[in-house]
Amino acid sequence: MQTLWQDLRYGARMLVKKPGFTLTAVVTLALGVGATTALFTVVNAVLLRPLPYPEADRLVYVGQTYSGELSGTGEPKFIFWREQSQSFEAMACYSSYGGARGNLAGGDEAEYAQGLRVSEDFFRALGVELVLTTEDGSAGEHGRVIAPLDRRLALRAPEAPVMVYACGPEGMLAAAARTAMKHGRPCQVSVERIMGCGLGGCYSCVVPMRAESGGVHHVRSCISGPVLPADEILWD
Ligand code: FES
Repeated sequence: MQTLWQDLRYGARMLVKKPGFTLTAVVTLALGVGATTALFTVVNAVLLRPLPYPEADRLVYVGQTYSGELSGTGEPKFIFWREQSQSFEAMACYSSYGGARGNLAGGDEAEYAQGLRVSEDFFRALGVELVLTTEDGSAGEHGRVIAPLDRRLALRAPEAPVMVYACGPEGMLAAAARTAMKHGRPCQVSVERIMGCGLGGCYSCVVPMRAESGGVHHVRSCISGPVLPADEILWD
């Protein structure tokens, strides 16, 4: 221990005596640590951290290249691939073209989210159950969407994390919010408002929200939404 302490003091004295060398060593170390951290962040995000889906190791991205660059694929080609495929359980495609965009609010920060248009098998390919409901029974379950939502929320264990997201007509959003609250689950809704300016100036898109003081405060959907926490909205 005594020797180590002496070595440390000797090293410190040498560093103070030669500031040029010290500066070079510190900068070299800082660059090395920074580069290693950046590299690990990329490797961890791209290679090590699994995708948040069941059996993520079975998911494969199929694409085509054009002049050495990965490029998009047209719908006819995708349909051809899907019809000819013998190795995949399900194949799905997606496009950000025409997908909705918006801010997901809730908690302390809003997050910008890009929506995607997806093909019918998209959720099945990811191992996510899709429940389809139609009021006339022409596809999926016959009835309104709130009934299967209520049933599924009732089946989830209290400790299982659940978030309800809803978009659609206001009456349906209110019903989804009430159902989520009944089961003690958080719910985010995408409110539909007439956008006059989209910049926060015309106040045509206000949504009444519950204020912390217990009163009412109005937020502008174009600035604070359109996705808002359902339990803070005053629905009536
Ligand atoms: S659209 Fe004008 S304030 Fe929101």
